[in-house]
Amino acid sequence: MNDTPLARAAAVFQAAFGQVPSIQVQAPGRVNLIGEHTDYNDGLVLPCAIDYRTVIVARLREDRLVRVLAADYEGAIDEYSLDAPIERLEAPMWANYVRGVVRELVQRGLPMQGMDLSIAGDVPQGAGLSSSASLSVAVCRLFATLPGFEALSPVDMALVAQRAENDFVGCKCGNMDQISSACGVQDHVLMIDCRSLAVEPVPMPAGAAIMIFNSHVTRGLVDSAYNTRREQCETAARHFALPALRDLDLATLEARGAELDPTVLRRARHVVTENARVAAAAQALAAGDLARMGELMEASHASMRDDFEITVPAIDQLVGIVKDVIGKAGGVRMTGGGFGGCVVALVPENLVDAAREAVARSYTAPNGMRATVYVCRAAAGAGIVA
Ligand code: GLA
Repeated sequence: MNDTPLARAAAVFQAAFGQVPSIQVQAPGRVNLIGEHTDYNDGLVLPCAIDYRTVIVARLREDRLVRVLAADYEGAIDEYSLDAPIERLEAPMWANYVRGVVRELVQRGLPMQGMDLSIAGDVPQGAGLSSSASLSVAVCRLFATLPGFEALSPVDMALVAQRAENDFVGCKCGNMDQISSACGVQDHVLMIDCRSLAVEPVPMPAGAAIMIFNSHVTRGLVDSAYNTRREQCETAARHFALPALRDLDLATLEARGAELDPTVLRRARHVVTENARVAAAAQALAAGDLARMGELMEASHASMRDDFEITVPAIDQLVGIVKDVIGKAGGVRMTGGGFGGCVVALVPENLVDAAREAVARSYTAPNGMRATVYVCRAAAGAGIVA
């Protein structure tokens, strides 16, 4: 019991601040079923929030100080005033996610108040399951409990968190991770239109489990590769004088593809075909058609491997092992930004054990580690913990 994130955060809070916290909030990580690198192209994605989360316990202060500690890391309290410029730190990184959101809320003129915070979580870090977005969204959700924040919707909170990551932490991510964490609906995946910001919950088919396999391939050089992909997509959109690749259709791309650098052409083809796959996947899921979902996930993986070039051999191998078990009865693909991280599978419940065993038997990461397996449930988005 004492090892839940909530219990850890509360114990550390009391030890450090000598009081009992009075507010507790949570924000989940996410896994993306399909729609990769489409969010920053104004496209479509189909993620869900997962039942692994960041929790924050807190207490209002009488003054204008914010004091923050991370129960999962040893180290000093990060302390600053709401009335002075909030600067980025060299380290620790977690503190910058909090600082970035606080600064963004101050800049928006919201009625901020001083607080003491203690943070803990169980979202695997560096695995592509959005532990950082869950932290940023949790911070935003915490301050949104204050009077005067009533107009801040879950999507607004996601955008505050994304802005903090883009401008303060320095990662040019899209908006999928934060919207998933802020807007999750239990037992539903979210069809998100990353341009209009419309979020449509689609029920998870009965009898299907969401499995996540952490490859333990660490995502080296990921930021530069991510930003390069983003630039290539923008180059393609500019070539066709379009606001974003969302606006490009496959017929135009095929007819005029030779005008593009061949690498840029492949990047654009991934995004255009992936958007179409997401739309089809939302329909397949709504109809409970796991076989169709499986085809679309397989095509998505191939497109990430061959056109967007963001998979690595160990990930391709892991996907193959799971595919051999589930066949046409479900789907499997890499999930997240790429270059390692996790594989996601939609698996009929009666094949969960077989998939787990096959991976235990056949997969070893280049660093010698075995895959970690999570069977998770589509979870509700950020909120107050009763
Ligand atoms: C990372 C980013 C997201 C999204 C995915 C790729 O998770 O944070 O915004 O671009 O990569 O789909």
